Amino acid sequence: MYGVTGHDEEALRAQIREAVARIGRLREREARFVPGETQVHYAGRVFDERELQAAVDAAVDGWLTLGRHSVAFERAFARAMGRRRALLANSGSSANLLATGALCSASLERPLVPGDEVITPALTFPTTLNPILQYGLIPVFVDVEPGTLNLDAHLLEGALSVRTRAVALPHTLGNTADLDVVTAFCQAHGLRLLEDCCDALGTTWGGRAVGTFGDVATTSFYAAHHMTTGEGGMVYTDDAQVFRAAQSLRDWGRDCWCEPGVSNTCGKRFDWELGGLPRGYDHKYIYSHIGYNLKPLDIAGAVGLVQLEKLPRFHAERRANFGRLREALAPHASWLEPARSLSRADPSWFSFPVTVREEAPFGRAELVGFLEARRIETRSVFSGNILRHPAYRAIPHRVVGELRETDRVMERTFFVGVYPGLTPAMLDHMVASFRAFLDRRPR
Ligand SMILES: Cc1ncc(COP(=O)(O)O)c(C=O)c1O
Repeated sequence: MYGVTGHDEEALRAQIREAVARIGRLREREARFVPGETQVHYAGRVFDERELQAAVDAAVDGWLTLGRHSVAFERAFARAMGRRRALLANSGSSANLLATGALCSASLERPLVPGDEVITPALTFPTTLNPILQYGLIPVFVDVEPGTLNLDAHLLEGALSVRTRAVALPHTLGNTADLDVVTAFCQAHGLRLLEDCCDALGTTWGGRAVGTFGDVATTSFYAAHHMTTGEGGMVYTDDAQVFRAAQSLRDWGRDCWCEPGVSNTCGKRFDWELGGLPRGYDHKYIYSHIGYNLKPLDIAGAVGLVQLEKLPRFHAERRANFGRLREALAPHASWLEPARSLSRADPSWFSFPVTVREEAPFGRAELVGFLEARRIETRSVFSGNILRHPAYRAIPHRVVGELRETDRVMERTFFVGVYPGLTPAMLDHMVASFRAFLDRRPR
């Protein structure tokens, strides 16, 4: 439908854009914060009239499915992340499924095969782990490094076996494991590294962005994340074969790589002879993978393009908000332990995780209850120890060592928000609430 716009349509689109902008401005004016009454979310969409305009403009195109906005977003995102290719999917979970599936693709020289082992932390998000299980790989769980919520890289050597083929590394809550140790380990043993950056866009290690250390990286654009398209995710990589395999898996498993609305990119659409197919069978309908359809709507691409421009500001605000909360809690370090990062890490924090120490004269439930009563939203660190959940009781796996720190996080850690939608007044309310709770405890 797009590409046929005449003068009249352009004029009408301009009117729509102006009307949408007015709605955006009205909403902004109406937003009023009342401490103790207005909910202080842990995360949320941060957008203005420009995202609304982009979404409506893409809808008015009438194309709707993956199209020009998504393709432009993929290119811009790859550029911004410093990777050659990026592939938009309908969620971060889908991106993880595609990235894992791509590493198992028969089109690669040494694909991962069922029974191969993948080392990953037990403190994880379910859909970081699920593709490992869905592809018949065996997860090998290790503990997290105390205070960081992220994989303890020093446990990797002990987790190695003859079947080890990959490390699946979530950069949990925006923090990261020791990437010097992780990458040296992967190189030394010829392992694939998948980085799940769903919580960690903008985080750097030694000045270099996470998502550029491994073979393939993923991220999520769900509303809680660093930038949002509502629902959405991205696979990004420098590896052309991994990219092609992920693209095929996303697009029904087809062999054809034409962009939406385009035909014959390969120049030999009716000239292929693959599998047991008759020569010249239409390349658009030749399947080289057992795939899915995990494409997003084009509206996601349009919104993503606008959000991407704002990402540096979002990162700066996340870091500043984290710093503010850490400073406020510093006098209470004997009771509360904010998450720490390793010396070469500069996290763009997803949230502000705090662990209630064993020495504290109160438990996590008491503090969380107090904050929630003051309308400050809290969350647990995702699944905690994933192995303790009903769905994972019977999965094939190995555990290396004890998961002591993982269990401690599950029992003692929670987080509040640092997202850029928090205003100074909301942060003041958060700080005042922590103080109100802590100051009335006898020392
Ligand atoms: C580390 C991690 N991986 C994967 C996901 C899944 O992303 P999505 O919600 O877009 O499917 C999340 C979601 O919060 C996450 O935190």
